[in-house]
Amino acid sequence: MRYKNLDQLFRQSAGRLSFSACPFLEARLLIQKAAGWKEADFFRNLDSVPPPGLANKLSVLIKKRQSGWPMAYILGRKEFWSLEFRVNRQVLIPRPETELVVEEVLSLPLPEKPRIVDVGTGCGNIAIALARELPRARVVASDLSARALSLAARNAGNIRLRNVVFVRSDLLSYFIEKRQKFEVIVSNPPYISEADWEKLERPVRDFEPRTALLAGPTGLEIIQRLVSQSWFCLKAGGFLVFEFGAGQEKEIRKLFKPGWSKPRVRSDYSGLPRVMTVQKLA
Ligand SMILES: C[S@@+](CC[C@H](N)C(=O)[O-])C[C@H]1O[C@@H](n2cnc3c(N)ncnc32)[C@H](O)[C@@H]1O
Repeated sequence: MRYKNLDQLFRQSAGRLSFSACPFLEARLLIQKAAGWKEADFFRNLDSVPPPGLANKLSVLIKKRQSGWPMAYILGRKEFWSLEFRVNRQVLIPRPETELVVEEVLSLPLPEKPRIVDVGTGCGNIAIALARELPRARVVASDLSARALSLAARNAGNIRLRNVVFVRSDLLSYFIEKRQKFEVIVSNPPYISEADWEKLERPVRDFEPRTALLAGPTGLEIIQRLVSQSWFCLKAGGFLVFEFGAGQEKEIRKLFKPGWSKPRVRSDYSGLPRVMTVQKLA
C-alpha cells in the first residue's frame, strides 16, 4: 500500500495497536524506531511521504507488539529515574515502583563517601541512579547473570559514570569471601513464588527472564538468603534496603533477629507495602 503521507501510516498503525492502552504513543515510538528518528523528526515528517521501506519495517515491529512483546524490549530501552537504560530480554524491565528503592537510599543518613552494593542489578538501573545522585559514593553493581552485568556496564558507560564497578556474584557470596563491607546493601531481588508465577500477566511470564523474578516455591527464598548474608557484609550502622512483594511483609519481618533495627516499610503508589529498610545496629 502507498501512503500519501506519514500521518496516514501513523493513524493506520495506531489502529493496528488498538489493543494497547496508548495506541498513538506506541505507533509514534515504533515509527521512530523503524526510521531511526528522534521525536522531532517524526513531527517534522508528518506531512511528507514516508521514506521507502519504512512501512515494511514498521509492520514487522507492530506484528511483534501484537504477539505480546513488551514495548521496552522492542524499543530496546526504558526510562528509570529520568535516565535512559538499554534493556534486552536478559534483564527485567525496570518498574516505576523500584524508584522508591532509590528514593529510600537517598533519604538515609550516609557518610560522605558511602560504599553501596546493588544486589541483582539487572540493567543497572538502581546502581546507576544512585551513582549519579551520589557522585562521591563508590557503587558496586552485582548480579549472577554475566549478560545482565555486561548490559549494566554499557548503561553506565552511556551515562558516563566512573563511580560504579561490576562484579559477578551469587547474592553477596563474593563479598563475604573477600571480606568486603558496605554502608548500604540495596536490592530488588526475585520475590515471586511458583504459584504466583503462574498468575503473572502473559507479557511478563512469556518475555521477561524467569531468573529475575522467580525466587522459589514460597517466593521468600532469595530474600531469606539476602538478609542472612547481609549481616556479614554491612558495617555497623549500615542499612539494608530492598523491594519485596505483596503479602510478604509479615514473614520478612520475622527474618530480622536482635542486632537489627525495627524494619521501616514504605508503600508504593497503589498503597502496597513495597520497600523495607533495616539497620545493622551492632
Ligand atoms: C527483579 S530483578 C531486578 C533487576 C533490577 N535491579 C531492577 O530493579 O529492575 C532481579 C535480578 O536479580 C538477579 N539474580 C537472581 N538471582 C540472583 C542471585 N542468586 N545472585 C545475584 N543476582 C541474582 C537477576 O539476574 C536479576 O537481574
